[in-house]
Amino acid sequence: MNTKGIILAGGSGTRLYPMTAVFSKQLQAVYDKPMIYYPLAILMLAGIREILVISTPEDTPNYKKLLGDGSNWGISLSYKKQDKPGGIAEAFIYGEDFIEKSQVCLILGDNIFYGKLDFLRNALEQNKGGTIFGYPVNEPGAYGVVEFDKDGNVLSIEEKPKAPKSKYAIPGLYVFSKDVVKIAKNIDRSPRGELEITDVQLEYNRRGKLRVELIGRGIAWLDTGTPESLMEASTFIHAIEKRQGHKIACLEEIALEMNFISLRQYLDTVNNLPNCSYKDYCLAVVK
Ligand code: G1P
Repeated sequence: MNTKGIILAGGSGTRLYPMTAVFSKQLQAVYDKPMIYYPLAILMLAGIREILVISTPEDTPNYKKLLGDGSNWGISLSYKKQDKPGGIAEAFIYGEDFIEKSQVCLILGDNIFYGKLDFLRNALEQNKGGTIFGYPVNEPGAYGVVEFDKDGNVLSIEEKPKAPKSKYAIPGLYVFSKDVVKIAKNIDRSPRGELEITDVQLEYNRRGKLRVELIGRGIAWLDTGTPESLMEASTFIHAIEKRQGHKIACLEEIALEMNFISLRQYLDTVNNLPNCSYKDYCLAVVK
């Protein structure tokens, strides 16, 4: 099934102020790359090649400057401005013309995953309505939280609950059928004036079409919401890259590995990069 991808890179990133005073959170560095490289890498590794980036009117030009039309990586990138932050579920309304009749995978631009992505590839293949993921964390109250029974039926989904009913947070990575546009249009704004992603999930569940896939050991899901968690994410990426000698989320390398581009296209792109360790790495991996 053809899946299109959306990266939501909006928001004001107030918790990272003053880092975010001039440019947005998802452009901040996570060790050696801008944050948005990581969710973009996840979509590419899942085989998704048509991707919409949604951001604020001020930041969209910066994303265009950074990522371009995607042709260097054999993908197609388009952009949409979100006038003002109105909730994650608004992404599907902004994305209506882009989604058309496809299934869609939404990833939040500040969510970093590391590990074997079979869980996502399987979800893209098997999704019938909506698929969300459950990831055990120590402090679930900072996230959407899913409670489920032993057969995997969803009992409750709550956004940042004071008393979480389970330890399973819902990462910012969702797979939905094309119906998601209609569903997003029909949910009510929450008391904080937003279209909540949890309400979209609850509607799929009401229709009996929501699946929760647990991911946990073997996958790292990192937060970047506070200065401390951002630094921890950088430290994590640095540690793995240094130890293995492999870069995480090197988009050129992924494009080549996924056969989105030929070796010739790869070398053309890489040779045009400024002299830096990123370029040295890109050259070394094909030697
Ligand atoms: C958002 C979602 C939440 C989800 C989280 C994942 O929260 O509302 O359900 O668990 O992303 O990163 P936010 O990051 O906006 O606080």
